[in-house]
Amino acid sequence: MDGRDCVKSATDCPHASAQRPLPCAQEAARQRFVEHGDIYTADPEARDLICHSPIASVVSNPRLPDNPLIACNQSFIDLTGYSEEEIIGRNCRFLSGPGTEPWLTEAIREGVREQKAVLVEILNYKKDGTPFRNAVVVAPVFDDDGELAYFHGSQIELEEGAESPMVTRRARAAEKLKDLSKRQFEVLQMVAAGLRNKQIAYELGLSEKTVKMHRGLAMEKLGAQSSADMIRLAVEAGV
Ligand SMILES: Cc1cc2nc3c(=O)[nH]c(=O)nc-3n(C[C@H](O)[C@H](O)[C@H](O)COP(=O)(O)O)c2cc1C
Repeated sequence: MDGRDCVKSATDCPHASAQRPLPCAQEAARQRFVEHGDIYTADPEARDLICHSPIASVVSNPRLPDNPLIACNQSFIDLTGYSEEEIIGRNCRFLSGPGTEPWLTEAIREGVREQKAVLVEILNYKKDGTPFRNAVVVAPVFDDDGELAYFHGSQIELEEGAESPMVTRRARAAEKLKDLSKRQFEVLQMVAAGLRNKQIAYELGLSEKTVKMHRGLAMEKLGAQSSADMIRLAVEAGV
């Protein structure tokens, strides 16, 4: 047994001792991902969620203590100025700072608590201290058994003072959704709620193959390059 098996809580950990009080908790989880270096081998599924996205994106693992980030893409690194080593293993609160609106942070916290997708435009900070207005979507992703597996986050920098690109993005998202068939829309709603193909198939009384087909077509029509982008679009459109 190593730190990998001991991520439930520090106090549960049989390896804890007076000398090394937290060998298996948050820091061990962080070290593990940092030491592995290659986030893409750490959790291929998390990687697949976001790697094709042109939008800054992260994935967190709520099964680990303090819900740390387990994957990020290059756009997130470019946006925030943090390196992969500084990102992986940490809770995403490192983006917040003195001017961050507590009520918006609370909205994200509530979404995480209730396992529901949220979109907020919150003041965040880059590594060099530059503040930026971040239109962030945080959404749950469930596993095949319907258990919470990940949170996906995607961040878009808004220009302060300029006409909000979110207005345009929302309008465009709503427009794109009109191209979907009723079935494709239903599938999108469930994808946006974090459901897997298996669960969607069950809910809609369809085969998984048919769900995959509708999902693929919806993705194509929406011009989404990853499931995460599709979720973001749905949240932006208020689905
Ligand atoms: C996947 C994911 C992405 C997040 N992205 C952001 C973000 O971009 N900006 C932000 O201010 N908070 C973000 N959060 C919320 C923070 O991780 C954290 O929950 C929040 O700052 C509250 O911190 P607290 O737990 O110290 O109160 C994200 C959370 C998750 C799970």
